[in-house]
Amino acid sequence: MLEHDVVIVGGGLAGCRAALEIVRTDPSINLAMVAKTHPIRSHSVAAQGGIAATLKNVDDQDSWEAHAFDTVKGSDYLADQDAVELLTREAPEVVIDLEHLGVLFSRLEDGRVAQRAFGGHSHKRTCYAADKTGHAILHELYNNILQYGVSVYDEWYALRLILEDNQAKGVVMYRLLDGELQVLRAKAVMFATGGYGRVFNTTSNDFASTGDGLSLAAMEGVPLEDMEFVQFHPTGLYPAGVLISEAVRGEGAYLINSQGDRFMAAYAPKQMELAPRDITSRAITTEIRASRGIQLDGQAGGPFVHLDLRHMGREKIMSRVPFCWEEAHRLAGVDAVHQPIPVRPTVHYSMGGIPVNIEGQVRSGAEGLIDNFFAAGECACVSVHGANRLGSNSLLECVVYGRRTGATIARYVQNQKLPEVDEQQYLQAAKDRLQKLLDQSGEYRIDQIRQQLQDCMAEHCGVFRTDEIITEGLTQFKALRDQYPQIRLDDPGKVWNTELIEALELQSLMVVGEVIMTGALQRRESRGAHSREDFPGRDDQNFLQHTLAYYSPAGIDLQYMPVTITLFEPQERKY
Ligand code: FUM
Repeated sequence: MLEHDVVIVGGGLAGCRAALEIVRTDPSINLAMVAKTHPIRSHSVAAQGGIAATLKNVDDQDSWEAHAFDTVKGSDYLADQDAVELLTREAPEVVIDLEHLGVLFSRLEDGRVAQRAFGGHSHKRTCYAADKTGHAILHELYNNILQYGVSVYDEWYALRLILEDNQAKGVVMYRLLDGELQVLRAKAVMFATGGYGRVFNTTSNDFASTGDGLSLAAMEGVPLEDMEFVQFHPTGLYPAGVLISEAVRGEGAYLINSQGDRFMAAYAPKQMELAPRDITSRAITTEIRASRGIQLDGQAGGPFVHLDLRHMGREKIMSRVPFCWEEAHRLAGVDAVHQPIPVRPTVHYSMGGIPVNIEGQVRSGAEGLIDNFFAAGECACVSVHGANRLGSNSLLECVVYGRRTGATIARYVQNQKLPEVDEQQYLQAAKDRLQKLLDQSGEYRIDQIRQQLQDCMAEHCGVFRTDEIITEGLTQFKALRDQYPQIRLDDPGKVWNTELIEALELQSLMVVGEVIMTGALQRRESRGAHSREDFPGRDDQNFLQHTLAYYSPAGIDLQYMPVTITLFEPQERKY
């Protein structure tokens, strides 16, 4: 059995930042990182537009209080305000620390870190490295943790969270290279496993974003919080769905419909293209539904709108958002210096996740905690984003709460012993599970079920929702779930069996998708990214509370938890 003081599952920004804090605090802590891709291929590397922090390099009127207010208003008042206060107060310090670690931020003429406008933020406070900010930060963090001798198990897939008697004890893991199984026990287990964009058919997320950590936790009885809040990023490149950063609008691009109008004037007259994402995604979807979308031949009635950068000029486009230009060129054949980019909303981010307190400890419910279990980043819900995240607050969450969770763990493990784990029992259960999958001779192919599941989620739990649409979706979804025991695999081997991993990921997608739809059905109000056409208003009386969903194959039990309100009383949200 493998033994470490701490195991972090996930090698993205939150995991790397937590790892750095742990080994910086106490280099004698024996730390393992387990990741299904190599850490520098984690989805954080794809983050583009920036990281928010009130450095005041561009706007000296900014303050952490303004950042906190924007974040809470953006969240449609569902964010926990104690967590938001920490996020925004600690932001300048963590960004300067990143700079000291070597992150190559873009600069102003005078050499200070540059800052740009972003949706829903009242000041220019987003720090950036052109439109490759996640890449710049992740590479530098990973460089730094390697210097401390962290053991990295890359391309190992975590199959199971070992959780007994309310105590996390380790993980069971599978090596993609050769099918080796291992049990790893640890004094503290941290999940930083990222999001689940691949539950939907159109997403900015990479192929690995299949919600595995969420599903592993849920299958052991850990609740998932606020999963009905799925962020649709307004500007996914049509048809691929990859991200065209909000930075493009932050630098001045327009959204245009088939009539040539800057239609955001009708939806958010003050903030225009820089309204928060929930509002902008609904605006684009409404334009498309009203036949003011655009077709590939330029005619009206199509499935996308235009993102127009042409007035920005080549020099600005190529220096501030070169990657977006490249994506549009490579994937849609569009030269954004001379042509508008076709865009439509794409699934981008999970506001919900594994519930944690502000120290990163996982909650067992509204009151209790799970011993030895921690989480941070997109897989966690602390909850700083509530019902709708502001752009450039997710990288910030990863570093603020990655750091805080790392600091908690470094203190926590000092007085802990390694837990007792029955290695043979866990290895046998894992072997049996995998063998059963390999031996199945059913009629269904993984990719067919996955595609139907993703289409079902997009159709029945999209930007606009109703009781009828979600209920029909859940019925279809359950039928797909019943087909899972009849999937057939072609590859019986142990070496790099990606088909087996896809079968396991499909199970994660099914667990997460069902939790999302069930929460969405029960939340009979519209708040942030959850927009119910049959309940168009926000209902603070009944739903100013967090959903906690307890998964079991027999059904999902929903409970609710109060929202922490310390700074700002809920108000009507206008932009
Ligand atoms: O549009 C973007 O660059 C995305 C940023 C974010 O999700 O924070």
